[in-house]
Amino acid sequence: MNRLDGPARLMIVSDLDYTMVDHRDPENISLLRFNALWESHYRNDSLLVFSTGRSPTLYKQLRKEKPMLTPDITIMSVGTEITYGEAMVRDDGWEKFLDRKWNRAVVLEETAKFPQLTFQSETEQRPHKVSFNVDKAQAQEIKKSLEESLEKRGLDVKIIYSGGQDLDVLPQGAGKGQALAYLLGKFKADGKLPINTLVCGDSGNDAELFSIPDVHGVMVSNAQEELLQWHAENAKNNPKIIHATERCAAGIIQAIGHFKLGTNISPRDVVDFSPPEGDNVKPAHEIVKFYMLYERWRRAEVEKSEFVMQSLKSITHPTGVLVHPSGVEHSLHEVIDAFGPLYGDKKGKDFRVWVDRLSTSQIASGAWLVKFDKWELDDGVWKCCLTTVLLNSEPENPGCLLLMHVHQTWLEGYEARDNHGLSL
Ligand code: GLC
Ligand code: MG
Repeated sequence: MNRLDGPARLMIVSDLDYTMVDHRDPENISLLRFNALWESHYRNDSLLVFSTGRSPTLYKQLRKEKPMLTPDITIMSVGTEITYGEAMVRDDGWEKFLDRKWNRAVVLEETAKFPQLTFQSETEQRPHKVSFNVDKAQAQEIKKSLEESLEKRGLDVKIIYSGGQDLDVLPQGAGKGQALAYLLGKFKADGKLPINTLVCGDSGNDAELFSIPDVHGVMVSNAQEELLQWHAENAKNNPKIIHATERCAAGIIQAIGHFKLGTNISPRDVVDFSPPEGDNVKPAHEIVKFYMLYERWRRAEVEKSEFVMQSLKSITHPTGVLVHPSGVEHSLHEVIDAFGPLYGDKKGKDFRVWVDRLSTSQIASGAWLVKFDKWELDDGVWKCCLTTVLLNSEPENPGCLLLMHVHQTWLEGYEARDNHGLSL
C-alpha cells in the first residue's frame, strides 16, 4: 500500500477534473509544472493520491489524454473503489465494508420513481455507486425525498450533488472523505501517518475531503459554487483551508507554498542550467532539469548558444554510453552533439517532455541509480522509454553529478515509429 519505508513527508490527495487537470488548458501547462515539481522534489519521500469521481474506465481514458503522473494510490468512483500502485491492486476490504446497509437493486427501484433523474453512462454505474444527471433547479428537492424513501427501505445512503449536474447515490460509509479517513487509519496502524496531508478539490464531491481532521486543503480558484457554499457554511474559520487564486494544479502548487509544505518552485518555472553548487546531491532534480533543458532547446525557449550545449556536455561523462531501445550504443557526447542541429525544430509545436515514477537509490559512495519513465509528447503522439541512469558525483565538486550510463527500453504501446536512435 505504501512503497515508502517511513511516513510520507507530504501526501497530496487530489481530485482530477478541473483540479489536477485543467480541461480549459490544451497545453496542460500547470499540470506539467506540477509534474516536474513532484518528480524532482517529492516523489522519493512523499505520496500522490488521486481521488476522482470517474470509474476505472473513464480514469484510464483520462490518463491517455492528459500528461498525468502515476499516483501511488487511486481512489475512484467517488471514494467507492481504492487501488494501490501502478498495477492498481484493488482494496477488497474497503468494498466489503461498503456492503453494509447497501442494496443496489433497491436503489434502482426507488430512483426509477423519479422521472427527473436520467442515468449516466453504463461505465459510471458501479457496485457501490449509482449515478444520474439532474437539473440544478430540482437537485436539492430530489436529493431530500430520495434520502427519505431509501431510508424507509432500510438503506443508509449518501447522496452527493456535483458539478451542477451529477447526482451520485453511494453507501453512507463511502465518499472521497471516508476513503481518505480509511487510508489515514491504515497508515496510522502501520506507524506511517504522513507528516502533512494536502487535499485538493473543486466540486461538491470533494467537500468531504476538507472535513477530515488535521489535513490542509485547497479549493482551486475555479472551484464550483456548491463547494464554496459548503465551505462558507461548514469550514469558514478553518485556517487550514484556502481558496487559491490560481486555477487547478497551479492552485495546488500555490497551496504547497502557502502552507509551507516544502519547496513550491517547479523546475518548469526556472531557467537554470548552471551546475549545482555545494555538496547537496539531488539526482532527481538533475534528471528533471536535464529534460527540461532538452525540451526548451527543441522548442527554442532557451538561447541558442554553445554555452547550453557545453553545459549539457559538462554533465555527461566523456566515456559515458547510451544504450538505445533498439540495442544500438552511442557515446553520450555523440548524442549531445546530435541535439545541436535540432535547436528550434519543435518551436511553437505541441512538444513536451516529462518524467514519471522516478526513483533514486544510492548504490555506492558518490553513485546513484535513477530509474524513471521518460515521456515525450510530439504532435499528438506519445512515446515512453523506461530509463535507467547511472550518475556519479565529481570528487572535487560533490554536488555536481555526471551521467555515466543511460539505458532505455520502450514502454509497450509507446514505441517511437522513427527509430533514429539519437535521443535521450
Ligand atoms: C465523475 C463521474 C460521475 C460522477 C461525477 C461526480 O464525473 O464520472 O459518474 O457523477 O464525477 O461525482
Ligand atoms: Mg473535479
